[in-house]
Amino acid sequence: MAEIAPSILAADFANLQRDVEMLNNSSADYIHVDIMDGMFVPNISFGIPVCEAIHQHAQKPLDVHLMIEQPDRYLEAFRKAGASILTVHFEACPHLHRTIQHIKETGALAGVALNPHTPVELLSEILSDVDLVLIMSVNPGFGGQKFIENTYRKIARLNRIRKEYNYQFKIEVDGGVNLANAEALVAEGTDILVAGSFVFGSQNPVETIAALKNK
Ligand code: DX5
Ligand code: ZN
Repeated sequence: MAEIAPSILAADFANLQRDVEMLNNSSADYIHVDIMDGMFVPNISFGIPVCEAIHQHAQKPLDVHLMIEQPDRYLEAFRKAGASILTVHFEACPHLHRTIQHIKETGALAGVALNPHTPVELLSEILSDVDLVLIMSVNPGFGGQKFIENTYRKIARLNRIRKEYNYQFKIEVDGGVNLANAEALVAEGTDILVAGSFVFGSQNPVETIAALKNK
C-alpha cells in the first residue's frame, strides 16, 4: 500500500479552495505542489503566494517539488508558505550537499529529484542525508504526459541500494502515474505515488485516490 500525493497542478485553479477541500476529505497523504520557473523547465506554474493560499486550506502536508534554478534562493520562502517537504532537482544543484543541509535548517524534510536520464547511482554520496528521492517518470514541466517505462528498473535499483545500506529515505514517483502502473511501481519499492491528471481528470477523484492507495 502506497502513500498518495495528488498533484495540485491538475486542479481547477479558479476553484483551488474547493479542490484542496476535496483532497482534505480524501485518503490522500500529501498535497503535491509543483513549482516551475520557466527556466529549469519550459513551463511556469505558480509561486509562493499560491502555495501559501493552498496551505491556508490544506489539512494534509504540502510536498513541494521545486523545478527551479538556484532553489536555495527560495527555500525559506516556501517553508514559510507551508512546505513540509522541500524537494530540489539534482540537475539544478551544483552544491547539493549544502542545499540539502539548507532545507533541513528550515525544518522541512529534504528531498532530491532526478530527471528521467539521471542515474540513481549519482546520488550515492548524498543518500544518507535525504528524507526522500523523487524519481521523475516523465520529463518535468507538464502534467498529463506518458509514463516512461524505464522507471521500473530505476526504482528497483534505488530500492536495492536502500536495502543494502539500510537507508531510511522514501521513494516517490512522479509523472504519468495511474491504476495501470501503480501496482508495479509499489512492487519495485515506491512509497509515494504522485498523480495529477489521473486523479483530477477522473469522474470521482476521492475514489480514484482510494483506488491508487490500495495498490
Ligand atoms: C511534472 C510534475 C508532476 C505532474 C504530474 O513536471 O512534476 O508532478 O503534476 O502530473 P501527471 O500525473 O498528470 O503526469
Ligand atoms: Zn511534481
